[in-house]
Amino acid sequence: MSVEMEVELNNGYKMPVIGLGTWMATDEDSLTAAVHEALKLGYRHIDTASAYDNEHVIGKVLKEWFDEGKLTQKVEKFLRRSLEALQLDYVDMYLIHVPFTVVEHVGPNGQPFAGFKEDGTVYMDESTDLVAIWKIQRVVTITNMSSGKCSRNGDEIFVTTKLPGYGNVPEKVEKFLRRSLEALQLDYVDMYLIHVPFTLVEHVGPNGQPCVGFKEDGTVDMDESTDLVAIWKEFEKFQRQGLTRSIGVSDFNMNQIERILKNCEIRPSNHQFEYHAALQVDDMVSFCKDNDIVCTGYATLGSGAASSFAEVPGLLNNSTVVEIAEKHKKTAAQVLRHSVQKGLVVIPKSTNPERVKENFEIFDFELDDEDMDALAGLDCNFRIYDFEQYFFKGIKNHPEYPY
Ligand SMILES: NC(=O)c1ccc[n+]([C@@H]2O[C@H](COP(=O)([O-])OP(=O)(O)OC[C@H]3O[C@@H](n4cnc5c(N)ncnc54)[C@H](OP(=O)(O)O)[C@@H]3O)[C@@H](O)[C@H]2O)c1
Repeated sequence: MSVEMEVELNNGYKMPVIGLGTWMATDEDSLTAAVHEALKLGYRHIDTASAYDNEHVIGKVLKEWFDEGKLTQKVEKFLRRSLEALQLDYVDMYLIHVPFTVVEHVGPNGQPFAGFKEDGTVYMDESTDLVAIWKIQRVVTITNMSSGKCSRNGDEIFVTTKLPGYGNVPEKVEKFLRRSLEALQLDYVDMYLIHVPFTLVEHVGPNGQPCVGFKEDGTVDMDESTDLVAIWKEFEKFQRQGLTRSIGVSDFNMNQIERILKNCEIRPSNHQFEYHAALQVDDMVSFCKDNDIVCTGYATLGSGAASSFAEVPGLLNNSTVVEIAEKHKKTAAQVLRHSVQKGLVVIPKSTNPERVKENFEIFDFELDDEDMDALAGLDCNFRIYDFEQYFFKGIKNHPEYPY
């Protein structure tokens, strides 16, 4: 079964089926090199999170690519808004309205507008770079706009980031989303996810950054008052305001997703959860499919990085995987395209340039029925990311603990 490079979300936007995972990638030099390498190879999807503490590193690389006109995003938002309002596929002339920049504020109706200070002067941004704006404008206007607001072009980047567990309070969503946008140097992200369904109490780390806190007995400091529907309402608000194109969830159970579905105006378009040959949660995949929610699998290679603190299934050395790899003259990591072939988006993490390349080269072969059956046989309900055991002791007592 051949696979497409992108899947369509329930709001029409397209999501590339391979993204670069970045959890535990905090070394600035190696992550910078890996993101550059990934973009050069054609990756157009990056997965990060506020809690990974690396959005600023990714943001710097993206800015270089935007500045060189090799990626699109900022000008495009307003052009697409205009096209949508005009109900046109393209306009005949798109002008830079004024040569200076005013800071974008959000009006009472959720629409962008200029903001004014108490003394009546306008909030302005003095960093205007007309040449850079011109370059992006040229890229956007000449690329394929024919399918309207949801079309993508080959140079458009898809960035996913996530609200941390200590931000799972409706009043905190905006603060964390804006922090992420600032660190990523973006006007909007493509996907904003609720990272975990439970709330942790926000503590302040030694560097002044928000973080998780633990009590003297080693259990996590949690807040049991989580209201997922109220948080979702905030997500909807910020999607309407254009701070994120799409919204979704991560590590939710079906009951939690159903609660959102019953109470939402904008449906979740993505669910990110652990999925690999040793944990084929196909009931969740079917449930999401039935509800038009795209699934992203994480740890699809078996999460070697987690082996520093957790038991991992050792999929890259598994004899069945290795045998199938030899048959197709591919590597074990490439055989784990298995998840893509089952309809998931994947986000393999690597900061090793050779592996970043290897993980992307999965579109030139197919696993046959025999391979897929053999890989199906590896499912043993092996969850690597056990929140209670490895991350947040005591969390299994939280009312929104998902498992
Ligand atoms: N939503 C969530 O709660 C959540 C949870 C976990 C993960 N995630 C996301 O999912 C991404 C992927 O999950 P993951 O990082 O746990 O696991 P993964 O992608 O299954 O495995 C990553 C590990 O495999 C190694 N690796 C990568 N490519 C390889 C290859 N071709 N051959 C051999 N080893 C290879 C990497 O090391 P090198 O870097 O040294 O190559 C790293 O140690 C994360 O980075 C993160 O973006 C999300």
